[in-house]
Amino acid sequence: MKKIVVLTGAGMSAESGIRTFRDSNGLWEEFDVMEVASIEGWYKNPGLMLRFYNERRKQILACEPNMGHLLLARLETNFEVHIITQNIDNLHERAGSTNVLHLHGELIKARSSVDPLLIYTIGNKEIQLGEKCEKGSQLRPFIVWFGEEVPAMEAAIQTVESADILCIIGTSLNVYPAAGLLHYAPYGSPVWLIDPNPPSGLSKSIHVIAKGAGEGVEEFIERVRTEKMRRNDGDGETDICMEFGKINP
Ligand code: APR
Repeated sequence: MKKIVVLTGAGMSAESGIRTFRDSNGLWEEFDVMEVASIEGWYKNPGLMLRFYNERRKQILACEPNMGHLLLARLETNFEVHIITQNIDNLHERAGSTNVLHLHGELIKARSSVDPLLIYTIGNKEIQLGEKCEKGSQLRPFIVWFGEEVPAMEAAIQTVESADILCIIGTSLNVYPAAGLLHYAPYGSPVWLIDPNPPSGLSKSIHVIAKGAGEGVEEFIERVRTEKMRRNDGDGETDICMEFGKINP
């Protein structure tokens, strides 16, 4: 079974009603990212950050997976699908995707502020100042903030390095190290990008679908499926590396 790796960003959840960060009316137009999403901000004003993420948790958990999430989940019937997401919502999981790696954490979880391995599932509960982990330290959102390491990065790189197809959906590719995953796709594995306003400076070998996530994933699946049928070489396997006549240089 061919392996499709999907890297998603905030644009993947835009059609579910969740604001992106850097589009017009994005979250970082309203909030100072260093105040509400950095480790410095946590040391300076943990109460403000707890309120920011309590509010986002409430808003996000009221949203539903969109067509793009649902189509990616359904893709698992024909392919081995690995989702690597920068998003902290749980819409991929709620759509039915079974293999989701969160690079920047998860809103439905909390962690100890002294031991990153002490993680608690809190669902839609708020985290209050004074709430402590079993080691007596303040509970904090299970989110990777600016200025912190991305613990899941090594696992993400290994996943991308074994992709037969890499599909990037709804990310401005502004934030590293996540944005660097694009360069780990194996030679010959096609790279797709779905975004109504694709980032500039992309390699010419990347297949761009300049549409929103829902329509874009639909078109992506159609084209991969068509290619799979056309190239089926008899053993049920498909040489999708030769898909669409373009091979990554
Ligand atoms: N469908 C697909 N993509 C969309 C849609 C849509 N309906 N609407 C907007 N987009 C695209 C935008 O064109 C943009 O390229 O989604 C992208 C969103 O970019 P950002 O707001 O920068 O979000 P993201 O790339 O996920 O940010 C990365 O930055 O602030 C941190 O930790 C945060 O994980 C986040 C990281």
